[in-house]
This record gives sequence, structure tokens and C-alpha cells, in this order.
Amino acid sequence: MAKYRIAWLPGDGVGNDVMDAAKIVLDAVKLDAEYIHGDVGWEFWCSEGDPLPERTVELLKSCDCCLFGAITSKPKEEAEKELSPELKSKGYVYRSPIVRLRQLFNLHTNLRPCKAYPGNPLNYKDGIDLVVFRENTEGLYSGVEFYPLPEYLRDAMKSASKNMAKFDAVDDADIAVSCRIFTRQACRSIARQAFEYAKKHERKSVTVVEKPNVIRETSGLMVREAREVAKDYPDIPLWEANIDAMCMWLLKNPFDYDVLVSTNMFGDIISDLCAQLVGGLGFAASANIGDNFALFEPTHGSAPKYAGQHKVNPTAMLLTVKLMLDWLGEIETAKRLEDAIAKVIAGGKVKTYDLGGTNTTLEVAQEVAGKI
Ligand code: IPM
Ligand code: MG
Repeated sequence: MAKYRIAWLPGDGVGNDVMDAAKIVLDAVKLDAEYIHGDVGWEFWCSEGDPLPERTVELLKSCDCCLFGAITSKPKEEAEKELSPELKSKGYVYRSPIVRLRQLFNLHTNLRPCKAYPGNPLNYKDGIDLVVFRENTEGLYSGVEFYPLPEYLRDAMKSASKNMAKFDAVDDADIAVSCRIFTRQACRSIARQAFEYAKKHERKSVTVVEKPNVIRETSGLMVREAREVAKDYPDIPLWEANIDAMCMWLLKNPFDYDVLVSTNMFGDIISDLCAQLVGGLGFAASANIGDNFALFEPTHGSAPKYAGQHKVNPTAMLLTVKLMLDWLGEIETAKRLEDAIAKVIAGGKVKTYDLGGTNTTLEVAQEVAGKI
């Protein structure tokens, strides 16, 4: 029996292309694992009314971890239109499978390292090395949303907050509400993960990115919890920044920052920004980590226009495999893989179109495999 059982979920579009690349390097490092394919993605939404079928959830429960390609997400009405005719008007509602998986398996910590590898012509500035910790299950992505506004909810909100009076003249049918729900436990946990990482990797600071001057209660809770956690790490300063200003500061002075921590939506935003500083989504890896299970996915989407062409840069996926190896405790192997990726980037010869090259996804993966 293999040492690891890994759920293999290519998903949509170029998810399949980059998973082929992942397999090349996993074979090259001879990881003792079996890979079990799972159905997820748009075709299962269209044909079954569920992009994340129950059989896939069961598969994940039987595995050590999951490698995930990419997923197509569309807004509610567009999704409804593409349902197979016999499923239409049956009440199926599209929800992003990746967001659901994070919640179902309580993958509370989203780790997104953004490092400017030497020789990458797309680096915004050489030497950038940021790590984003994004709370992964709560906030505006909890799925507690209403449209139109139910009357009982308006009544409750009105009696609880005088600020609701502003909306008195607006019809229920013209109001949508998405709840930003934070728990103390999740805020504390993501702050703890960020500080633990900073300590382990000798990082110089942790910056909590929120907006407590306006979003007083939720952002306020996150910042207060970060301050509490920081007390246990007297050698690592905690800095506080507002999300809007942070987007500016990261462009102006990226070297002032190190580990960033935020909640679900601001973490989503800031991690795309950080990705662009180090070459774009083709270089952005991510790990969704829970207490006993983890799911690894590149930050990029399914890029339907490139699907099946083996054109996109596999580096984000290969760095994602590196994160998976780290999590499995295969630290040496992870290091060897990262070194090989760095060598191929520095070599500048074998590269995909985003880097001005003509090589395919698989050729880049083979080049990396050859350098391991
Ligand atoms: C990400 C993506 C997802 C998210 C989408 C595809 C639902 O943007 O992983 O950053 O919003 O979390
Ligand atoms: Mg995102």
C-alpha cells in the first residue's frame, strides 16, 4: 500500500493542464502515493445540478489530502442558464465548490506565499518575499445572504441598529444583504498561524490587514485578536494596516512587509495583489489547511480560453505541489522541488507564453523534473 492517498481533482479548464504538470514532478520525486480521481466542476453542475457531487466529498474523507486544479465560478443567474434542461427551475443554486470544500472540511487557514524568484522577468521588483495568511471559512464568504430582504430580518435589524433607518424608504425587493460574520476563534486562529509561521521561518513582522476605522465590529474583532496573539511573540512586531492603504503601500514599499494576515475577503484581494508583485497568478500557490486535512490549489482560475492547450504556466501548480509536500512532512523533497523550479526560472530558457516563451505547460514541468 502506498504511504499517501491523495485525492486528485483537476476540475475545470486549465486545471487539467496544470494537474498533468503536477503528475510529472510528483513522479520525478517518486512520492510514495496513490492518486484517486474525483469529479468536480462545471460539467457536474450542468449535468447533475451539483459541481461538487457527494461521491467526491466521500472520496476526500478517505484521503490524506487533496490536490485541486481550478474551477469555473459564475454568478447565480448565468449558472442557472447552463443547467441541463430537466434540472432547470428545480431550485438548484450554484455555489463555488472550492468555497464549499473549505467550509465542509474546515480548512480554516489559506496560506499563500508570494516570492519573486530570481530571474523572473515578471517580478515587480526582485527580492519580494511575502506570505499571506487568509482566514478561509468565514466573513463575506460564509454564504449567509439575502435577496430580497426578508421582512423579519429588516425588523430585527431595525430594532438592533439605528443605522438601518437610512434604508426605511427602500423596498425589501430592492435590498440585498450579505453578512460578514467573524468568530473570535477563527480570528485568533488565523493570527496564531501567521505568527507561528513568522517564528518558524524567522520572518521580521506580521501585518494585520483590515479596516477597523469603518467596519468597526468585524474588523475590530480581527485586529484585537491579532494584538492578543502578538503578546505571545514579543520578538515579532505586529503592524496594522487598512486594506485600501495596504494596496498602495504594497506597491510603494513592498520590502516593508513580510507576513500578512487577514480575513476571507480582504485576504482574497490582497493575495491577488501580492501574486502580481511576483509575476502574476502563474506563480501563485496556495494551501487550504485544516486540523487534519488540507487541499492544495494554485490561486489562478480555470482560464477557459486556454483549456486543453497546455499553454499556461505550471509554476503556480508546481509550487503548490511543494506546499503539499511540506504539509505531508516531506520537507527535503519539497526543498528539492522548489530549488528545481527556481533553477528553471533563473535559467530563463524553458518558459511559457506569459514569460515570452513558446514552451508548453508540460515541457516546463519536464524541465523542472529533470533538475530535481
Ligand atoms: C481564490 C479564488 C476563489 C475565492 C474563488 C474561485 C471562489 O478567488 O481562491 O482566491 O474567492 O476564494
Ligand atoms: Mg481569489
